[in-house]
Amino acid sequence: MTLKINGKEHSISVEPSMPLLWVLRDVLNMTGTKYGCGVAACGACTVHIDGVATRTCILPVSAAEGKEIKTIEAIGETELSAVQKAWIKHQVPQCGYCQSGMIMAVESLLSEIPNPTDEDINQKITNICRCGTYQRIRTAIKTAAEYRAAAATTKSEKSSTSKHKLS
Ligand code: FES
Ligand code: FES
Repeated sequence: MTLKINGKEHSISVEPSMPLLWVLRDVLNMTGTKYGCGVAACGACTVHIDGVATRTCILPVSAAEGKEIKTIEAIGETELSAVQKAWIKHQVPQCGYCQSGMIMAVESLLSEIPNPTDEDINQKITNICRCGTYQRIRTAIKTAAEYRAAAATTKSEKSSTSKHKLS
């Protein structure tokens, strides 16, 4: 079967029931996505499938065929994302193990809800951090939302300036 991951097609020969996480890590050697609990409880294995944060440890690879899969390896590939910048500003990680899944969950949250409330964060970010970095994560999500809003404003100002120049 063929999987589209981070914009590239990968031909693989595996059992359709193999969890996507196993395919990413053991077949394709994309080890940024982590194995934590194996029962869809901790979120360490989160990737985006067609833009939706999805836990891959119990997802059969066949369910991801024909879809756009995005992993942590694609985040900040050309420049750091607002979430990554906020993570650095607030020095969020401790051991780091849960963080790729956290970042994927937060990227998805901010795409869906650009300015999340505490309640939104409580509902949408259910990933587990054994180091207890939850307060820093919450603060960094709010900073990332500000960074994204500022970048969107700058982009729209630039586009309106260039339109004025053209007219
Ligand atoms: S490893 Fe998938 S949710 Fe924990
Ligand atoms: S930073 Fe260690 S598990 Fe989250």
